Amino acid sequence: MKCPTCEKDCLQPAAQVLSGIDSLYMACPRCPPEPNLDKGAPLRELPRTANRCPSCGRAPLDLVMLEALDVMVECGIRDAGESLRSVGTPLVEIGFPMAYPPRLGGRSLIIVGDRLTGEAASRLMEIPEIKGVIQSAGIPGVVDRSRGSREGELLAGCDLRADLVQSAFGDLLIYKSQARIHIEFSRQGAPKVRIVESLFFGGAFKEVVDGYCGPGTLGLVCALAGAKRVVLNDIWLPAVENVMMNLEANRDLLGIQEIQRPEAAVSLVGGSPVLVGLATGDCRIEVYHGDLRKLFHRAGPADLCLIDPFPGSDTREAERACSSCRKIVII
Ligand SMILES: C[S@@+](CC[C@H](N)C(=O)[O-])C[C@H]1O[C@@H](n2cnc3c(N)ncnc32)[C@H](O)[C@@H]1O
Ligand SMILES: [Zn+2]
Ligand SMILES: [Zn+2]
Repeated sequence: MKCPTCEKDCLQPAAQVLSGIDSLYMACPRCPPEPNLDKGAPLRELPRTANRCPSCGRAPLDLVMLEALDVMVECGIRDAGESLRSVGTPLVEIGFPMAYPPRLGGRSLIIVGDRLTGEAASRLMEIPEIKGVIQSAGIPGVVDRSRGSREGELLAGCDLRADLVQSAFGDLLIYKSQARIHIEFSRQGAPKVRIVESLFFGGAFKEVVDGYCGPGTLGLVCALAGAKRVVLNDIWLPAVENVMMNLEANRDLLGIQEIQRPEAAVSLVGGSPVLVGLATGDCRIEVYHGDLRKLFHRAGPADLCLIDPFPGSDTREAERACSSCRKIVII
């Protein structure tokens, strides 16, 4: 499997990554103590005592963010009165709930920021732990169909990363091209996954539609939960492409035997649904690129239809379109 962004080996089978996840960002016995820098203090007041570990070579997150802020000041896009928070949002390559601040190895942190420049991004890539630099454009994708779509700009490096999804039915690793897919924090407690779990604990669902599926998290949890047919649909092509990548990466965990690509997508923002993917095995997984409001002209109804919109978006029309499904749940 090749990384779709950089064509290197960023994309690994989920089972392989999950087997080593506990020690991924752990300090070694010789790592210096955690710097615990004040994230709101001006750069000029921060102590310069943090170092990479002489034994394992890893860096505390605070040190990487401090070096990133230094670079931004040198490039004239920040000043020494600004704090570590002004660097942007740090996203580890493999995200999971951590009880400690991460110790970073090479190319393991993606920074999503604003007011960045191409020059600053290339300089940031000189910091060994930084994997990619994204200029944010707000929430990427289709937030409101009447206003079109938008995406962040990958200024340097690679934007592929993944989040661990833990559920009562098993774990998955959901990869995201983060310049084009919204940030979904794998918070302790993962409330959306808990909703899906409680639905299945309340009664089995044979056929599920995940109508606003993004990179596929909730629908794929339903496949793990024992659904026999799962329809994943999204209007945003990068989301659907990420679903296809996640079927491949989680193939063994999902009991997939074969993956086909029956039809090719025709536009970045979908209209009438196109069947871009079909996985068979323990569960039949259909992947559509299209507007949920038109999905049921092509895909049959389901026992359960999940709609997980961006906060504040109007789902009334989508709900009406799903009225042939037995149960509709807005996440
Ligand atoms: C909050 S995200 C879904 C997150 C996803 N459940 C996850 O766990 O990562 C909302 C998704 O709805 C999609 N969307 C918005 N309007 C849509 C529509 N009319 N039809 C299908 N998908 C739509 C967006 O492209 C976006 O991927
Ligand atoms: Zn890559
Ligand atoms: Zn160490």
